[in-house]
Amino acid sequence: MCGIVAYLGHREACPIILKGLHRLEYRGYDSAGVALLNGELNVYKKKGKVSDLEAFIHEKDTHAHVGMGHTRWATHGEPNDENAHPHYSTSERIAIIHNGIIENYAALKTHLQQQGHVFHSDTDTEVFVNLIEEIQKQNDCSLEEAVRLALHEVVGAYAIVVLSKDAPNQLIAARKGSPMVIGIGEGEFFIASDATPIIEYTNEVVYVNDYEIVVIRDGQLEIRSKEDVSQTPYIQKLEMELDSIEKGGYEHFMLKEIFEQPRSILDSMRGRLEIEASHLNMGGIRAYEQKFINAQRIIIVACGTSWHAGLVAEYLIEDLARIPVEVEYASEFRYRNPIITERDIVIAISQSGETADTLAAIELAKSKGATIFGVCNVVGSSIARATDAGAYTHAGPEIGVASTKAFTAQVTVLTLLAMIMGQKRGTITDTKLRELMVELDTIPAKVTKALELDAQIREIAEEFKDATNFLYLGRGYNFPVALEGALKLKEISYIHAEGYPAAEMKHGPIALIDENMPMVVIATRDSSYEKVVSNIQEVKARKGRIIAVVSEGDKVIPAMAEFVIEVPHTSEVLMPLVSVVPLQLLSYHIAVLRGCNVDQPRNLAKSVTVE
Ligand code: F6R
Repeated sequence: MCGIVAYLGHREACPIILKGLHRLEYRGYDSAGVALLNGELNVYKKKGKVSDLEAFIHEKDTHAHVGMGHTRWATHGEPNDENAHPHYSTSERIAIIHNGIIENYAALKTHLQQQGHVFHSDTDTEVFVNLIEEIQKQNDCSLEEAVRLALHEVVGAYAIVVLSKDAPNQLIAARKGSPMVIGIGEGEFFIASDATPIIEYTNEVVYVNDYEIVVIRDGQLEIRSKEDVSQTPYIQKLEMELDSIEKGGYEHFMLKEIFEQPRSILDSMRGRLEIEASHLNMGGIRAYEQKFINAQRIIIVACGTSWHAGLVAEYLIEDLARIPVEVEYASEFRYRNPIITERDIVIAISQSGETADTLAAIELAKSKGATIFGVCNVVGSSIARATDAGAYTHAGPEIGVASTKAFTAQVTVLTLLAMIMGQKRGTITDTKLRELMVELDTIPAKVTKALELDAQIREIAEEFKDATNFLYLGRGYNFPVALEGALKLKEISYIHAEGYPAAEMKHGPIALIDENMPMVVIATRDSSYEKVVSNIQEVKARKGRIIAVVSEGDKVIPAMAEFVIEVPHTSEVLMPLVSVVPLQLLSYHIAVLRGCNVDQPRNLAKSVTVE
């Protein structure tokens, strides 16, 4: 949700910033801009993609060694040139880029207008930069001090970078609630929303904490608290590979990420499933083992696809560890005065680790004394740092806005967690545990096999690309998969789709079925197979068009369904890891055939850092 990048050093700033913006474009792509400081403070910005900005500045003088850029996901004000960042202060001597939301911007704006400040955009960000200017004028202080004082007056979330014409070799940045990482090179510094714009130049990074102010000046990095106390930067080594953030020959990041799943599932199991030694291991829970064993309840908080992974975890944990589980939309949880006790464990699931709703739910649960366990993909992210303990998913960077490999990595980690909890609590027999371990070990190969269905699924996509509605049905472990399949389709192809528990169909959605309604039914061989077969019959009797995902070798459903996708069979408990794959491919191919921008679907952003 908005990407920021800044550079100060010996190289030309503009190419580095533009490349960084391309890498961050998954965070927002409705407008983009740069500010370059070279005696003058020049701001160039444009509605549209980073490539539109590039075309716009092609002929301009962009020579500078200090600069910053922004790619926007609109919050206040429609996407247009004026609302694009960077924003100038009234005097045009200060410029700012901002990711986040200033909640009290209206009151601040009125006050600043009374002081003579002039506004050109509808954004909250323009208020922020004018506030800094006003404070600097009133207090006759340094830019750094003005930024610090301004932070005491704004309410909301921010990651900002500020440049001033009067401070030619200086970058000031600050964060609260929106991510920020500093890259430290040889005589050069980078600031970005995540490490992807930095990795090419250095692997030494500092993750900025909430309420910290960063000053880069005279070849030095200084971090101070909002109370103006100097902080010691904690320099970490990045483990990300450059390859992992490039398309590697695939047409889209989403397709690459779908095909990476055998690897990302394996990476998420590595060191945790030791099949030879018949041992399960998860470092993250070690310190909280007794809490997990004695937990009276587990509450899972997440959003979107991560919430679907949470639903799978509900089945897993109740089934294998016999602890009651509630799965909550993080955004609802925090506003409904939930009952949380010290004996609860809250599991927060998030690919980005930055989702504002999930972060707020964590803070609430923490304040009530619950133990918070994070399942995050992005190392060093806000959620990873806010939790008491956790396990990373190791899916590698996920750039396509529609989440795919993060989902299967989350389900893998949550499966291992449920198995470990079941083992420690004695709710699963050694034989069953061993069987599951052996089966889990085969999942990467089975996902590879499911990916071989790609050409067949593309043909099915051809058949249905013009549909206007879709229903997805599944039961038990495959119900969250139906929800996930429907979400994938709607977000990238803009086809209305709904996921339902198969048996609920007769309580309403059955009224929608006619010869124009495609119905994706996940009907793999499991404990509810016979029931799902009956549901298929009900759809067929009403002339619905059935695309069935079945276990390899199924002899019954092919006689009923118009299209059959056979996936390798696995244990019911592990089936979501396999059955979701054809649904990801189906939505991908339908979106491509409809000419949609698969990696950057309209209105969406990868990391939702506003509530
Ligand atoms: C769907 C999707 C979103 C995210 C949701 C939570 O494809 O990507 O629904 O799953 O915004 O994001 P994270 O997992 O980063 O907290």
